[in-house]
Amino acid sequence: MAANYNNSAWFYDGLARIVYGKALVNAQVYLLNHIPDNSKLLIVGGGTGWILEELTRIHPSGLAITYVEIAPNMMAFSKKRNTGNNQVIFINEAIENIELPVDFDVVLTPFLLDNFTQQNLEIIFNSINTLLKPNGSWLNASFQLTGKWWQQLMLKTMFIFFKVTCGIEASQLPGIDEVFETNGYKLIEQENFFCDFIGGRVHKK
Ligand SMILES: C[S@@+](CC[C@H](N)C(=O)[O-])C[C@H]1O[C@@H](n2cnc3c(N)ncnc32)[C@H](O)[C@@H]1O
Repeated sequence: MAANYNNSAWFYDGLARIVYGKALVNAQVYLLNHIPDNSKLLIVGGGTGWILEELTRIHPSGLAITYVEIAPNMMAFSKKRNTGNNQVIFINEAIENIELPVDFDVVLTPFLLDNFTQQNLEIIFNSINTLLKPNGSWLNASFQLTGKWWQQLMLKTMFIFFKVTCGIEASQLPGIDEVFETNGYKLIEQENFFCDFIGGRVHKK
């Protein structure tokens, strides 16, 4: 499965900020507010790990975090982050290739699921789904198309850019909302960002 952002680690956050301003951060911070105290949390595809510092601002302690990121360069940045008194296990592997205890209260997938073909989305989804407890929350941020002409243009440009620089496999968005629905998840809350091009969704298992 090809969605390894290793080559982009040194410029990813800077570029994201130039293109999207604070929208990518705001969508993820919105989701972080749905993490209860003392949760056992799985983060998949956290990139350079800035999310860990935002998380620590909200929860300076009490969380047991498992942080899974496939790209070694992204992981190197992530390990330098301030995580306060939270417990963090870093795993530099693809989520679908590892075995973890099946007892997470919350999982967070920030701009992960939109990188895959439909077939591989389902594989990734299933490998994460089995790790979340019944009644657990799945916090997801993804790009989405809501009918504005420029969204399709920006999306295509991003896919081409990251295909060339990092070998990302997707060239169109897979059915992310559908995969949550067919697996019986309830949509609890959502908020859109960047003129609806970005969706933050809280799903309950
Ligand atoms: C689009 S980037 C988003 C990074 C970060 N969440 C952000 O918003 O800044 C997707 C991240 O997922 C990681 N990734 C892709 N496939 C993965 C997999 N199978 N297992 C774990 N991490 C993966 C990539 O290396 C990359 O860092």
